[in-house]
This record gives sequence, structure tokens and C-alpha cells, in this order.
Amino acid sequence: MNYGHFSDDGREFIITDVRTPSPWINYLTNGRYFATISANGGGISYDRSPLHGRITRYRINDVPPDRPGKYIYVKDLDSGEIWSLTWQPVGREPAAYRVAHGFGYTRAEAVVAGIASSVVFFVPIDDDREIWKAVLTNTSTRVRRLSVIGYVEFALGHALVDLINQCDDQHFNRVLYDKGLGALFATKTYWVTETRGTQQQENKEWDRWAYFTVSGPVAAYETLRERFIGPFRSETNPVALERGLTSTDTDYGNAVGAIQVDVELGPGESREVIFSLGVIPKPEFDRLKRAAVEKYRDPAAVDAALGRVRKEWERFLGHTRAGTPDPEVNVFMNFWTPYQAKVAFDVGRVVSFYYWGIGRGFGFRDTAQDTIAITMAEPAKARDRVLLLARQMRRDGAVYHHFTGDGQGEFTGHCDDPLWFILAVTEYLKETGDFGLLDAIEPFLDGEEGSVLERLLAVVRFAWANLGAHGLPIFGRGDWNDTLDYIGGEDGGESVWGAMFYIAMLDRLLELLEFLNVAGRHAGIREFRDRLVEAVEKFTWDGEWYIRAFGEGERKIGSSGNRYGRIFINTQSWAVIAGLPSRARLIQAMDSVGRHLDTPYGPKICAPAFREIDPTIGLITRCVRGKKENGAVFCHPAAWVVQAECLLGRGDRAFGYFKKLLPDRVDSDIFTAEPYVYSQYITSDEHETAGRASHSWQTGTAAWMFRVSFDHILGIRPSYAGLIVDPVVPRAWKGFKAERVFRGTRYLIEVENPDGVESGLKSIRVDGRPIDGPVLPLAQGTACRVQVTMGASECSGKGDHP
Ligand code: GLC
Repeated sequence: MNYGHFSDDGREFIITDVRTPSPWINYLTNGRYFATISANGGGISYDRSPLHGRITRYRINDVPPDRPGKYIYVKDLDSGEIWSLTWQPVGREPAAYRVAHGFGYTRAEAVVAGIASSVVFFVPIDDDREIWKAVLTNTSTRVRRLSVIGYVEFALGHALVDLINQCDDQHFNRVLYDKGLGALFATKTYWVTETRGTQQQENKEWDRWAYFTVSGPVAAYETLRERFIGPFRSETNPVALERGLTSTDTDYGNAVGAIQVDVELGPGESREVIFSLGVIPKPEFDRLKRAAVEKYRDPAAVDAALGRVRKEWERFLGHTRAGTPDPEVNVFMNFWTPYQAKVAFDVGRVVSFYYWGIGRGFGFRDTAQDTIAITMAEPAKARDRVLLLARQMRRDGAVYHHFTGDGQGEFTGHCDDPLWFILAVTEYLKETGDFGLLDAIEPFLDGEEGSVLERLLAVVRFAWANLGAHGLPIFGRGDWNDTLDYIGGEDGGESVWGAMFYIAMLDRLLELLEFLNVAGRHAGIREFRDRLVEAVEKFTWDGEWYIRAFGEGERKIGSSGNRYGRIFINTQSWAVIAGLPSRARLIQAMDSVGRHLDTPYGPKICAPAFREIDPTIGLITRCVRGKKENGAVFCHPAAWVVQAECLLGRGDRAFGYFKKLLPDRVDSDIFTAEPYVYSQYITSDEHETAGRASHSWQTGTAAWMFRVSFDHILGIRPSYAGLIVDPVVPRAWKGFKAERVFRGTRYLIEVENPDGVESGLKSIRVDGRPIDGPVLPLAQGTACRVQVTMGASECSGKGDHP
């Protein structure tokens, strides 16, 4: 980690060299207003929807990268020196800058030209805006006269239209300065919410006014990019900083907001300059605008709002606490992984340095998986998401693969999508015991309405109707792996992983129905499950591992006889997760993962990578080898490898994989992505850029790594009957401590491992009293002490299904 490190308490990542190999970003959001910010001030801002509510521009994949952003320029009025309070965009003296990313805020510090500065960027919890609070201190011995200029480049509405139709779109922009309020207001009198490229214009305007304001008296402002930046220049050297801002409004063109305050600082003197950017809904504009722009001009109000952000994250993260012997693991488990998972949940995986946020909307499977990280701290939000998913379903159980949330979406025929609903529902129920959810009524996409329970049964019917010649799921346009999209060509092959996934989800459903005492009414589900197990065991064992799919006829994908893609990760880990009956095969399958897929960066998704295009397999074979699904270390399924090794009781192996995959393991010049969050994939040893990570932040890896490490390594996981404690740890651990809030009780758990075992329980005491088995009885009080001794099993038994 040559560019930074975690703070001592693990709650900040401090970037000491801002010349990071890619933009190292953070997210500022309250779930409604969203901003990204890199260590160099680059980033996007949007309200609600990144597609329809885009406030500022961010040019993905441009040169230089990571522009524009939330920039504060400073000009010394005596010397003429110019710099910015983040290293970019002016780019002077990188060594003078230091940036801390924390939970919901980013702080940029600098000492340039005798002026020390600290800017905190954040989004208040209950106010839909972003605040940039700068404090400037004169560390020199003379009086300093400075202009401080905040700058944003507006998008104003539909992000895709802004991108592809700027030539016409620019004729509808307005940026006006309100002298009485000391604020810029910007909007667009034209707004398209349609993206199908039709010539039909929607007869409406953007439904918001954006505002950009500052705490001090405004000395000057600018509204047009051409006037601010000037020809043959960029954000690095705007002409307006040399010639002065013209203080003119605009009714066309590339709209920007630049707003200047002048300050005079005696030696040692400090001054706050607070910028704030947000939106006001048009119908309420006149009523709300004064309060909106004036609210955070007082530094005390800003500090109180920031205090609430910090408190809210402490609350969220405080539901679990891992005190393992490994401090690096603790930093990720306690802070950065659940933090990333919550961000991915809020953002819906669509905006990052890599994603424009103009694409597909929510993915059904991704959204279902994102809920599992927040059930404990945000049950109401998880419930809302489950119901949102419920509304994306037809009566026959088919679901939209992608959806917008306002009724639109597309059916693609992926064989796995609908069954992820079972995961989301059962995780929510195990955590909360809120079985009323099962009776919640929502409309189906094709008319009529039905309950959540009816939907669980509908997805079973979907699965039942989707079996091929071997009795395995018909692949459709993919399963979890989107790039296995033409398996078997147009006729369609069969997914072995799909079968394992169906089995695991059916088991989850059966477990629920048994708990509710209604399993007898649904005997067909068990029969279906058993038939799937039989088909998998009969047709898909390859000798040392399970194959991945059947293509045309009897053609095997993921078999030792193939040239490429001989072994795939998911049909080994999920064989275990599905609880297939032959332990010998499961062990051999996971040993094969170790032998054929493991690398210094973690286990690969498949190997060898495809080096020839095969249209009857699909996109995976068109992708460069060693990256993405074609043989990279895809971090999300790697979490399932950790889970599978735990389920086999092999703690050393499980922890070995887990530790290796932590984002800070590889030299940053090689890894390039942020070392404090998981990336979607790490390039594998089949490509010359091995070790390079990509698509950081917006990946299901965080949700799964968080849950797998807590649920399966520490072994502390929810079940309908109570909290389970059944750790699977490395032999070297002499014990660990953990805390877990479950159904209103904080369990304070202390685990001892005197014999250095990987798994197995000798005894459990709850508030001093011994219990049988690993399920802690539901406690009544607010806190409960649990003492666990690991060792050769006296009270073992898994207690639930994975
Ligand atoms: C991406 C998709 C996810 C899919 C994975 C593998 O991460 O968001 O839904 O499962 O790729 O193809």
C-alpha cells in the first residue's frame, strides 16, 4: 500500500501520496442524494437517480481521468499564485496534500504557499445536498488576501441526453445568480426521461433547480464553462482565475457554477468557507430556496450535521464487531467491508469510477444479494427492497433481469434470477423474525396481486418448468455468470451450477416451510430437490470435480477433456453449499479448486482461460484471457470458496483464501484500484497485467465477504430459532471475541480454541448456563454473554442449512 494506510483505529483510509494509480474514491450519500469523490476532488453528484437526476458532470474514461469534480481554487491576490485545495485540478506540489476517506465523508488537507487548508466533503443524513466545508489558516508571517472559488460543471437532468445530445441540450440551460440570497440557481427547461432514441420530445422541464452557494459574501461568480475555463485550457488553468470572474448569468451553453469569496487572513488566523450544492423540487422552489441556501452558512450547523453522519455510521457498523487475532482482518470485517456493502446497496451498483450510471437500472440478482449485508442494521430498508423485487415478478415466477423500479424492465431468460428472491426473503426472515412479510401483497407484472409466500412458490414453479434433457436447469441467456450466455447455442444447454443453486435455494425454502410447520403441504418441493441432486450426481461428476454445463447434446463445459475452461469455480463451491451427499466428492472438488484455480491473488473463476472464440459458449470466450469472467480472480464467487471451505470445516484453507483476497494484499502499483474496498475482479496469472484489479466498489463481493466471514469463519449467523455460533477458524487462532446484535440483543461472544482445532464445539455457555448445540436461545435482555470453547465435538451439529 505505497500510497496510504488505514488510520490506527481503522476508521479512515489516509492517502499520503495523492498520485494514486487510479482515482481512489469514496461515496457520500444519505440514500437519496449521492456524490462520489476521489482523493483529487473528482466525482459526480446526482439526486435520486443517476440517470434522471444528474446534477454535475463527470467524464468517465476521458483524459486526464477523474474530471471534473468538486473543486475549490485559491488565488493569492498579492502574489498571483493559484492552487486548489485538492491536489487536482491545478496539480501543484503533490507532497503538500493528504486525504482521508472516512465513512460518509472525505477530508482533504494541504499546506501550500503558507496556507494550511482542510476541506471536509459530506452529505447530511436528512438533507439532500453536499457540503464542502473548508478551513483556511494562514501559517505565514504576513497578512494574506485570498480569493476562494468553488467550481462545479452542471449536467442538469438526464445524464445520457447530456452526453449524446449536448449540441441541442445546451439551449435549455439556465444559470442565474440571486443577489439577495448569494446563490447560483441552475436548471434545464427541457427534460427527456426516455432513452430509446426516439424523435418524440417530452414536453417537460427538469423538475428541479440546482443551487450552489457559499457562506461568505460573494465577490464574483461565473456560469458558463467557456468563460470560466477559456480556449486551449482545462480545469488545471482556467482563464477566469487570471482575468477574474465576469459575474454574468447564462441561458445557454455548458452550464457551470463558480462562486468566489475573498478573505483576508492575518498571521495564524483561520477562516471557514462553506460551499453547498443541492437541488430543490420546482413546485417548492419559492418556498424552500432561502432556507436551503442559508441553512449551512453557520459552521456550527455544519459540524452538527457531520456529527450526525459519523454517529449514523457508528450505529450501522456497530451491529457486528470482530475481535480476531488478525488486526488487518478486523479492519475489513468491522468497517470497510460492511461500509462498502451498504454503499453498493444504496447506489444499486451503477455508479463508480467505472460505471456511468446511465445504463440498465437495478439487476434482480444483484439487488437480492445486496440486501443480505444490511438486514441486521437496516431491516426496514431490506424489507422495502424485498418488496421492490417482488414487484418485478410475473405470476409464473419469471422476473425482470434488469429493472428501473418504475415498472420498466427486461426479461432475459437467465435461469437463476427468480430464485435469488428466496435468498433475500429467507435472510430477512432469519434476521428479523418478521414473518408478516410473507403475507405482504404486491402486484405482479402481468396483473393481479399476490403475497410474498405465493411468490416463493411461484419461483419454484419457474424452476420446475425450466429443466432440460438431463433434468438440469436450461441455461437460457446465462446464470450467475452472465457471460456463459450462449451455452449450447440457440437451442440452449443446461447449467450444472444452476442445479446446485436451485437445490440450495429449495433447501432454504424447505427450512422455512418446516419452521412454519407447513412443509407437509409442499412435499413436491422436496421431491423436486431430491431429483435435482440425483441428476447432478448422476451426470455431472467429472472424476475430480463437477462440470459446469452441458452444451449441445452431451457436450461438457468445464470438463478435464476440454482445451479451455476445464474447471469452473462455482460448481465446486456450490456443490458444498448445496450440501451434495458425497463428502468425498466435495473434498475432492474443493481440493481441485486449490490445485487448478488458486493463484497468489486468490482462486480464479475458471481455467485455463478461453483463447478461442466459441459462439456456442458465449461472451466469456470473446473476452481477453485472465480478465473478467474469462479466468480472472472474480472476487464475488471467491467468497463462496471461503464459505464452502468453512462448511467442510477446513478453517486453515477458508481463512487462507479470505486473507489472500483482502484488497490491500497486492502492491498498489500493480493492483491500481483502492486497497480499502473489494474490486469485482483481479487480473489472473494468464495475463501480463496479473494482479491488476478493476471495477472497485460496486460488486456483490462486499456483501458476501462480510457475511461469509462473520457467518462462517466466526460462525455467528442468524437462524429462525436463534443465533448460531459454530466457528471455523485457522488452527493458529487461540480464540477470538465478537459482538453481534440479533433480534434486539447484543451478544458478547468469547471463543476459546485451546486445542488449536479448525472447527467443532466443546461447550457453549450463555450467561453462565451451558446449552446443547450451537443455537443460542432467543435472549430477552439487551445484552447476553456467550462463552464458547472449541474442540473435539461434544455439542456439534450444524444447526441449520448453509
Ligand atoms: C457482474 C454482474 C453479476 C454477475 C457477475 C458474473 O458482477 O453484476 O450479476 O453475476 O457479473 O457474470
